[in-house]
Amino acid sequence: MTTAPSRQAHSASAASSTDPLLLVDVDHVRFYVGNAKQAAFFYAHCFGFQIDEVADLTTGSREEASYLLTQGNIRFLLTTGLGADHPASREVMTYGDGVKDVAFTVFDATKAFERAVKNGAAPAQEPRTVSDDRGSITTASIKTYGRVVHTFVSRTGEYDLVNIKKGGVFSPGFKKLDKISINEYNRKHPCGLKYVDHLVGNVEEGKMNHWVAFYENVLEFTMFKHFDDKDISTEYSALMSKVMASGNNLIKMPINEPAEGKKKSQIQEYLDWHNNTPGVQHLALRTDDELHSIAALRSRGVDFLTLPDTYYDIVWDRVNTMLTKHGHTPVREDHEAIKKLGILVDADDEGYLLQLFTKPLQDRPTLFFEIICRRGSQSFGKGNFKALFEALEIEQERRGNL
Ligand SMILES: [Fe+2]
Repeated sequence: MTTAPSRQAHSASAASSTDPLLLVDVDHVRFYVGNAKQAAFFYAHCFGFQIDEVADLTTGSREEASYLLTQGNIRFLLTTGLGADHPASREVMTYGDGVKDVAFTVFDATKAFERAVKNGAAPAQEPRTVSDDRGSITTASIKTYGRVVHTFVSRTGEYDLVNIKKGGVFSPGFKKLDKISINEYNRKHPCGLKYVDHLVGNVEEGKMNHWVAFYENVLEFTMFKHFDDKDISTEYSALMSKVMASGNNLIKMPINEPAEGKKKSQIQEYLDWHNNTPGVQHLALRTDDELHSIAALRSRGVDFLTLPDTYYDIVWDRVNTMLTKHGHTPVREDHEAIKKLGILVDADDEGYLLQLFTKPLQDRPTLFFEIICRRGSQSFGKGNFKALFEALEIEQERRGNL
Protein backbone atom coordinates (compact mmCIF):
# COMPACT_ATOMS: atom_id res chain seq x y z
CA MET A 1 0.00 0.00 0.00
CA THR A 2 1.22 3.49 -0.79
CA THR A 3 1.74 6.15 1.82
CA ALA A 4 0.83 9.79 1.36
CA PRO A 5 3.85 11.83 0.24
CA SER A 6 4.44 15.20 1.83
CA ARG A 7 2.81 18.24 0.26
CA GLN A 8 6.19 19.83 -0.40
CA ALA A 9 7.31 16.83 -2.42
CA HIS A 10 4.57 17.34 -4.97
CA SER A 11 5.70 20.78 -6.07
CA ALA A 12 9.26 19.65 -6.67
CA SER A 13 8.49 16.39 -8.45
CA ALA A 14 5.68 17.92 -10.46
CA ALA A 15 7.87 20.60 -12.04
CA SER A 16 8.95 18.31 -14.83
CA SER A 17 5.65 16.50 -15.23
CA THR A 18 3.87 16.45 -18.54
CA ASP A 19 0.72 14.84 -17.10
CA PRO A 20 -1.97 17.54 -17.37
CA LEU A 21 -4.02 16.00 -14.55
CA LEU A 22 -1.16 15.79 -12.09
CA LEU A 23 -2.52 17.63 -9.06
CA VAL A 24 0.21 19.71 -7.43
CA ASP A 25 -1.82 20.76 -4.41
CA VAL A 26 -5.28 21.59 -3.09
CA ASP A 27 -5.18 25.19 -4.28
CA HIS A 28 -8.15 26.21 -2.15
CA VAL A 29 -11.61 25.16 -1.02
CA ARG A 30 -14.29 27.73 -1.76
CA PHE A 31 -17.39 27.97 0.41
CA TYR A 32 -20.52 29.84 -0.59
CA VAL A 33 -21.81 31.49 2.58
CA GLY A 34 -24.57 33.91 3.54
CA ASN A 35 -22.22 36.48 5.08
CA ALA A 36 -18.52 36.03 4.33
CA LYS A 37 -17.41 38.72 6.74
CA GLN A 38 -19.11 37.03 9.68
CA ALA A 39 -18.15 33.50 8.56
CA ALA A 40 -14.49 34.60 8.38
CA PHE A 41 -14.61 35.54 12.04
CA PHE A 42 -16.32 32.26 12.98
CA TYR A 43 -13.57 30.17 11.35
CA ALA A 44 -10.86 32.45 12.75
CA HIS A 45 -12.17 32.43 16.32
CA CYS A 46 -13.23 28.78 16.49
CA PHE A 47 -10.61 27.08 14.27
CA GLY A 48 -7.61 29.41 14.42
CA PHE A 49 -7.54 30.55 10.78
CA GLN A 50 -5.82 33.75 9.72
CA ILE A 51 -8.14 36.17 7.94
CA ASP A 52 -5.49 37.04 5.38
CA GLU A 53 -7.00 38.78 2.38
CA VAL A 54 -10.21 40.22 1.03
CA ALA A 55 -11.73 41.06 -2.35
CA ASP A 56 -14.82 43.24 -1.88
CA LEU A 57 -16.24 46.64 -2.76
CA THR A 58 -13.08 48.31 -1.43
CA THR A 59 -10.97 46.44 -4.00
CA GLY A 60 -13.41 46.97 -6.85
CA SER A 61 -15.29 43.68 -6.56
CA ARG A 62 -18.88 44.80 -7.25
CA GLU A 63 -20.60 41.42 -7.48
CA GLU A 64 -19.23 39.41 -4.56
CA ALA A 65 -17.11 39.58 -1.44
CA SER A 66 -14.48 36.91 -0.76
CA TYR A 67 -12.19 36.36 2.22
CA LEU A 68 -9.06 34.21 2.06
CA LEU A 69 -8.51 32.27 5.27
CA THR A 70 -5.29 30.34 5.80
CA GLN A 71 -3.76 27.93 8.28
CA GLY A 72 -0.73 25.78 7.47
CA ASN A 73 -1.27 24.70 3.86
CA ILE A 74 -5.07 25.11 4.09
CA ARG A 75 -6.66 27.90 2.05
CA PHE A 76 -10.38 28.58 2.34
CA LEU A 77 -12.16 31.17 0.22
CA LEU A 78 -15.44 32.34 1.75
CA THR A 79 -17.63 33.97 -0.88
CA THR A 80 -20.90 35.88 -0.55
CA GLY A 81 -22.96 37.32 -3.40
CA LEU A 82 -23.69 41.02 -3.10
CA GLY A 83 -26.96 40.78 -5.04
CA ALA A 84 -29.89 38.40 -5.27
CA ASP A 85 -28.85 37.08 -8.71
CA HIS A 86 -25.30 36.14 -7.81
CA PRO A 87 -24.85 32.34 -7.96
CA ALA A 88 -23.62 32.33 -4.35
CA SER A 89 -26.81 34.07 -3.18
CA ARG A 90 -29.00 31.61 -5.06
CA GLU A 91 -27.06 28.58 -3.82
CA VAL A 92 -27.05 29.72 -0.20
CA MET A 93 -30.83 30.07 -0.41
CA THR A 94 -31.10 26.51 -1.74
CA TYR A 95 -28.41 24.67 0.21
CA GLY A 96 -27.34 26.86 3.11
CA ASP A 97 -23.63 27.57 3.64
CA GLY A 98 -21.33 24.90 2.21
CA VAL A 99 -18.54 23.87 -0.13
CA LYS A 100 -18.86 25.03 -3.73
CA ASP A 101 -15.41 24.32 -5.16
CA VAL A 102 -12.51 22.03 -4.43
CA ALA A 103 -9.77 23.64 -6.51
CA PHE A 104 -6.53 21.94 -7.52
CA THR A 105 -3.26 23.59 -8.48
CA VAL A 106 -1.96 22.15 -11.77
CA PHE A 107 0.79 23.12 -14.21
CA ASP A 108 -1.51 24.26 -16.97
CA ALA A 109 -5.18 24.80 -16.10
CA THR A 110 -6.20 24.94 -19.76
CA LYS A 111 -4.57 21.59 -20.53
CA ALA A 112 -6.02 20.00 -17.37
CA PHE A 113 -9.48 21.26 -18.29
CA GLU A 114 -9.20 20.04 -21.89
CA ARG A 115 -8.08 16.60 -20.76
CA ALA A 116 -10.87 16.33 -18.15
CA VAL A 117 -13.50 17.39 -20.71
CA LYS A 118 -12.07 14.90 -23.21
CA ASN A 119 -12.41 12.30 -20.43
CA GLY A 120 -16.13 13.11 -20.13
CA ALA A 121 -16.39 16.06 -17.70
CA ALA A 122 -19.10 18.70 -18.09
CA PRO A 123 -17.51 22.16 -18.22
CA ALA A 124 -18.51 24.67 -15.51
CA GLN A 125 -16.18 27.51 -16.59
CA GLU A 126 -14.03 27.75 -19.71
CA PRO A 127 -10.35 28.71 -19.17
CA ARG A 128 -9.91 32.32 -18.08
CA THR A 129 -6.71 34.21 -17.27
CA VAL A 130 -6.44 37.24 -15.00
CA SER A 131 -3.13 39.04 -14.73
CA ASP A 132 -1.44 42.19 -13.50
CA ASP A 133 2.17 43.33 -13.18
CA ARG A 134 2.84 40.67 -10.54
CA GLY A 135 1.85 37.63 -12.59
CA SER A 136 -1.17 35.69 -13.75
CA ILE A 137 -3.67 33.06 -12.74
CA THR A 138 -5.53 30.80 -15.14
CA THR A 139 -8.64 28.98 -13.91
CA ALA A 140 -11.03 26.52 -15.56
CA SER A 141 -13.74 24.43 -13.87
CA ILE A 142 -15.58 21.17 -14.36
CA LYS A 143 -18.76 19.98 -12.66
CA THR A 144 -18.76 17.09 -10.22
CA TYR A 145 -21.56 15.83 -7.93
CA GLY A 146 -24.46 18.13 -7.11
CA ARG A 147 -23.54 21.80 -6.85
CA VAL A 148 -19.82 21.14 -6.46
CA VAL A 149 -17.15 22.01 -9.04
CA HIS A 150 -13.43 21.34 -9.37
CA THR A 151 -11.43 24.32 -10.56
CA PHE A 152 -7.99 23.78 -12.08
CA VAL A 153 -5.65 26.66 -11.17
CA SER A 154 -2.27 27.45 -12.73
CA ARG A 155 -0.19 30.34 -11.48
CA THR A 156 2.77 32.41 -12.70
CA GLY A 157 5.07 35.08 -11.27
CA GLU A 158 4.33 36.28 -7.75
CA TYR A 159 1.05 34.34 -7.83
CA ASP A 160 2.90 31.02 -7.91
CA LEU A 161 1.72 28.80 -5.04
CA VAL A 162 5.21 28.76 -3.54
CA ASN A 163 4.91 32.53 -3.04
CA ILE A 164 1.35 32.31 -1.73
CA LYS A 165 2.55 29.86 0.93
CA LYS A 166 5.14 32.43 1.99
CA GLY A 167 2.43 35.05 2.41
CA GLY A 168 2.19 36.49 -1.12
CA VAL A 169 -1.08 37.90 -2.45
CA PHE A 170 -3.48 35.12 -3.52
CA SER A 171 -4.84 36.55 -6.75
CA PRO A 172 -5.28 39.83 -8.65
CA GLY A 173 -8.11 41.74 -7.00
CA PHE A 174 -7.25 40.64 -3.45
CA LYS A 175 -5.62 42.80 -0.80
CA LYS A 176 -3.89 41.86 2.44
CA LEU A 177 -5.64 42.52 5.73
CA ASP A 178 -3.57 43.40 8.76
CA LYS A 179 -4.07 44.55 12.25
CA ILE A 180 -6.94 42.20 13.01
CA SER A 181 -6.54 41.25 16.65
CA ILE A 182 -7.77 37.68 16.12
CA ASN A 183 -4.93 37.14 13.61
CA GLU A 184 -2.42 38.22 16.22
CA TYR A 185 -4.03 35.98 18.85
CA ASN A 186 -4.04 33.00 16.45
CA ARG A 187 -0.35 33.49 15.63
CA LYS A 188 0.41 33.25 19.35
CA HIS A 189 -2.07 30.41 19.99
CA PRO A 190 -1.94 28.11 16.95
CA CYS A 191 -4.46 25.28 16.55
CA GLY A 192 -1.98 23.24 14.48
CA LEU A 193 -4.13 22.43 11.42
CA LYS A 194 -1.83 21.63 8.49
CA TYR A 195 -3.68 20.64 5.31
CA VAL A 196 -6.78 18.96 3.88
CA ASP A 197 -6.28 15.22 4.45
CA HIS A 198 -9.46 14.10 2.70
CA LEU A 199 -12.77 15.42 1.57
CA VAL A 200 -15.97 13.40 1.63
CA GLY A 201 -18.94 13.67 -0.69
CA ASN A 202 -22.47 12.42 -0.07
CA VAL A 203 -24.36 11.25 -3.15
CA GLU A 204 -27.84 9.79 -3.66
CA GLU A 205 -28.68 6.13 -3.08
CA GLY A 206 -27.54 4.05 -6.02
CA LYS A 207 -25.19 6.75 -7.35
CA MET A 208 -21.93 5.90 -5.57
CA ASN A 209 -20.58 3.77 -8.41
CA HIS A 210 -21.52 6.41 -10.94
CA TRP A 211 -19.33 8.95 -9.14
CA VAL A 212 -16.56 6.44 -8.55
CA ALA A 213 -16.44 5.94 -12.32
CA PHE A 214 -16.46 9.71 -12.80
CA TYR A 215 -13.32 10.15 -10.67
CA GLU A 216 -11.66 7.17 -12.36
CA ASN A 217 -12.45 8.30 -15.90
CA VAL A 218 -12.42 12.09 -15.68
CA LEU A 219 -9.73 12.88 -13.09
CA GLU A 220 -7.90 9.55 -13.51
CA PHE A 221 -8.16 8.74 -9.79
CA THR A 222 -7.95 5.17 -8.49
CA MET A 223 -9.91 3.39 -5.80
CA PHE A 224 -8.09 3.43 -2.49
CA LYS A 225 -10.52 1.57 -0.23
CA HIS A 226 -14.15 0.63 -0.01
CA PHE A 227 -16.58 -0.11 2.80
CA ASP A 228 -20.01 -1.65 2.58
CA ASP A 229 -23.00 -1.57 4.88
CA LYS A 230 -21.59 -4.48 6.90
CA ASP A 231 -18.68 -2.23 7.87
CA ILE A 232 -20.74 0.89 8.46
CA SER A 233 -24.03 0.13 10.09
CA THR A 234 -25.83 -0.06 13.38
CA GLU A 235 -29.12 -1.75 14.15
CA TYR A 236 -30.88 1.25 12.60
CA SER A 237 -28.87 3.04 9.93
CA ALA A 238 -26.18 2.39 7.32
CA LEU A 239 -24.07 3.80 4.54
CA MET A 240 -21.68 2.60 1.87
CA SER A 241 -18.44 4.34 0.97
CA LYS A 242 -15.65 4.14 -1.61
CA VAL A 243 -12.46 6.15 -1.31
CA MET A 244 -11.04 7.64 -4.51
CA ALA A 245 -7.46 8.93 -4.58
CA SER A 246 -5.58 11.12 -7.04
CA GLY A 247 -2.71 9.45 -8.90
CA ASN A 248 -0.12 10.77 -6.46
CA ASN A 249 -2.37 10.31 -3.39
CA LEU A 250 -2.34 14.08 -2.87
CA ILE A 251 -6.03 14.06 -2.14
CA LYS A 252 -8.44 11.33 -1.13
CA MET A 253 -12.12 11.75 -1.80
CA PRO A 254 -14.41 9.18 -0.17
CA ILE A 255 -17.89 9.02 -1.71
CA ASN A 256 -20.80 7.94 0.49
CA GLU A 257 -24.27 6.80 -0.40
CA PRO A 258 -27.09 5.94 2.01
CA ALA A 259 -27.93 2.27 2.56
CA GLU A 260 -31.14 0.62 3.71
CA GLY A 261 -31.65 0.63 7.48
CA LYS A 262 -34.56 0.57 9.90
CA LYS A 263 -34.13 4.30 10.39
CA LYS A 264 -32.77 7.15 8.34
CA SER A 265 -29.10 7.11 7.29
CA GLN A 266 -27.02 10.17 8.21
CA ILE A 267 -26.37 10.49 4.45
CA GLN A 268 -30.09 10.68 3.76
CA GLU A 269 -30.45 13.31 6.50
CA TYR A 270 -27.77 15.38 4.75
CA LEU A 271 -29.53 15.03 1.38
CA ASP A 272 -32.91 15.93 2.91
CA TRP A 273 -31.47 19.22 4.20
CA HIS A 274 -29.40 19.88 1.06
CA ASN A 275 -32.28 20.11 -1.42
CA ASN A 276 -31.87 16.39 -2.25
CA THR A 277 -28.59 17.29 -3.91
CA PRO A 278 -25.17 15.66 -3.43
CA GLY A 279 -22.47 17.75 -1.81
CA VAL A 280 -19.42 17.81 0.43
CA GLN A 281 -20.20 16.21 3.79
CA HIS A 282 -16.93 16.79 5.59
CA LEU A 283 -13.42 18.12 5.25
CA ALA A 284 -10.76 16.28 7.25
CA LEU A 285 -8.03 18.67 8.42
CA ARG A 286 -4.71 17.14 9.33
CA THR A 287 -2.75 17.89 12.51
CA ASP A 288 0.52 16.46 13.84
CA ASP A 289 -0.74 16.76 17.43
CA GLU A 290 -4.36 15.69 17.87
CA LEU A 291 -4.43 16.36 21.61
CA HIS A 292 -3.13 19.90 21.26
CA SER A 293 -5.46 20.70 18.35
CA ILE A 294 -8.59 19.30 20.01
CA ALA A 295 -7.80 21.01 23.33
CA ALA A 296 -7.29 24.32 21.49
CA LEU A 297 -10.47 23.97 19.43
CA ARG A 298 -12.53 22.93 22.46
CA SER A 299 -11.28 25.95 24.40
CA ARG A 300 -12.41 28.15 21.48
CA GLY A 301 -15.93 26.70 21.65
CA VAL A 302 -15.95 24.12 18.84
CA ASP A 303 -18.75 21.61 19.35
CA PHE A 304 -17.64 17.99 18.82
CA LEU A 305 -19.60 14.76 18.62
CA THR A 306 -19.77 12.99 21.97
CA LEU A 307 -19.15 9.27 22.08
CA PRO A 308 -20.87 6.90 24.53
CA ASP A 309 -18.83 6.44 27.77
CA THR A 310 -18.42 2.76 26.98
CA TYR A 311 -16.24 3.60 23.96
CA TYR A 312 -13.08 3.81 26.08
CA ASP A 313 -13.82 0.55 27.93
CA ILE A 314 -12.83 -1.44 24.88
CA VAL A 315 -10.88 0.84 22.57
CA TRP A 316 -7.38 0.30 24.01
CA ASP A 317 -7.65 -3.44 23.82
CA ARG A 318 -8.90 -3.30 20.22
CA VAL A 319 -6.31 -0.78 19.03
CA ASN A 320 -3.22 -1.92 20.88
CA THR A 321 -3.87 -5.58 20.04
CA MET A 322 -3.96 -4.64 16.34
CA LEU A 323 -0.77 -2.58 16.64
CA THR A 324 1.16 -5.27 18.50
CA LYS A 325 0.02 -7.92 16.04
CA HIS A 326 1.56 -5.94 13.17
CA GLY A 327 4.77 -5.06 15.02
CA HIS A 328 3.91 -1.44 15.84
CA THR A 329 4.32 0.25 19.19
CA PRO A 330 1.09 0.97 21.11
CA VAL A 331 -0.63 4.38 21.06
CA ARG A 332 1.95 6.76 22.51
CA GLU A 333 -0.36 9.63 23.49
CA ASP A 334 -1.64 9.75 27.05
CA HIS A 335 -4.70 7.48 27.20
CA GLU A 336 -6.42 9.45 29.96
CA ALA A 337 -5.95 12.73 28.07
CA ILE A 338 -7.42 11.14 24.92
CA LYS A 339 -10.48 10.06 26.92
CA LYS A 340 -10.81 13.43 28.60
CA LEU A 341 -10.75 15.20 25.21
CA GLY A 342 -13.18 12.67 23.73
CA ILE A 343 -10.81 11.75 20.88
CA LEU A 344 -11.38 8.58 18.82
CA VAL A 345 -8.63 6.06 18.08
CA ASP A 346 -8.35 3.39 15.40
CA ALA A 347 -5.61 1.12 14.09
CA ASP A 348 -4.87 -1.02 11.06
CA ASP A 349 -1.91 -3.03 9.79
CA GLU A 350 0.10 0.17 9.10
CA GLY A 351 -0.35 2.02 12.38
CA TYR A 352 -2.97 4.11 14.12
CA LEU A 353 -4.88 7.35 13.78
CA LEU A 354 -6.58 9.81 16.11
CA GLN A 355 -9.70 11.59 14.91
CA LEU A 356 -12.67 13.63 16.05
CA PHE A 357 -15.68 15.08 14.27
CA THR A 358 -17.35 18.42 14.83
CA LYS A 359 -21.09 18.82 14.88
CA PRO A 360 -22.53 20.57 11.77
CA LEU A 361 -20.93 23.98 11.20
CA GLN A 362 -24.19 25.67 10.21
CA ASP A 363 -27.84 25.33 11.19
CA ARG A 364 -28.58 22.72 8.56
CA PRO A 365 -27.16 19.25 9.39
CA THR A 366 -24.84 19.30 6.38
CA LEU A 367 -21.11 20.21 6.37
CA PHE A 368 -18.80 19.35 9.28
CA PHE A 369 -15.04 19.04 9.89
CA GLU A 370 -12.91 16.12 11.04
CA ILE A 371 -9.63 16.75 12.83
CA ILE A 372 -7.27 13.87 12.08
CA CYS A 373 -3.74 12.84 13.09
CA ARG A 374 -2.09 9.87 11.41
CA ARG A 375 0.55 7.68 13.06
CA GLY A 376 1.13 5.31 10.13
CA SER A 377 -2.48 4.45 9.37
CA GLN A 378 -3.72 5.65 5.97
CA SER A 379 -7.25 4.52 6.72
CA PHE A 380 -10.37 6.42 7.80
CA GLY A 381 -11.28 5.04 11.22
CA LYS A 382 -13.38 2.05 10.19
CA GLY A 383 -13.22 0.66 13.74
CA ASN A 384 -15.02 3.80 14.96
CA PHE A 385 -17.86 3.70 12.47
CA LYS A 386 -20.27 1.81 14.71
CA ALA A 387 -19.66 3.99 17.77
CA LEU A 388 -19.88 7.10 15.59
CA PHE A 389 -23.13 6.04 14.02
CA GLU A 390 -24.65 5.52 17.44
CA ALA A 391 -23.48 9.00 18.48
CA LEU A 392 -24.85 10.46 15.24
CA GLU A 393 -28.19 8.74 15.72
CA ILE A 394 -28.53 10.47 19.09
CA GLU A 395 -27.91 13.80 17.32
CA GLN A 396 -30.36 12.94 14.50
CA GLU A 397 -32.96 12.04 17.14
CA ARG A 398 -32.42 15.43 18.83
CA ARG A 399 -32.99 17.14 15.46
CA GLY A 400 -36.14 15.08 14.82
CA ASN A 401 -34.49 13.52 11.78
CA LEU A 402 -34.15 9.83 12.58
FE1 LIG B 1 -13.27 11.42 7.27
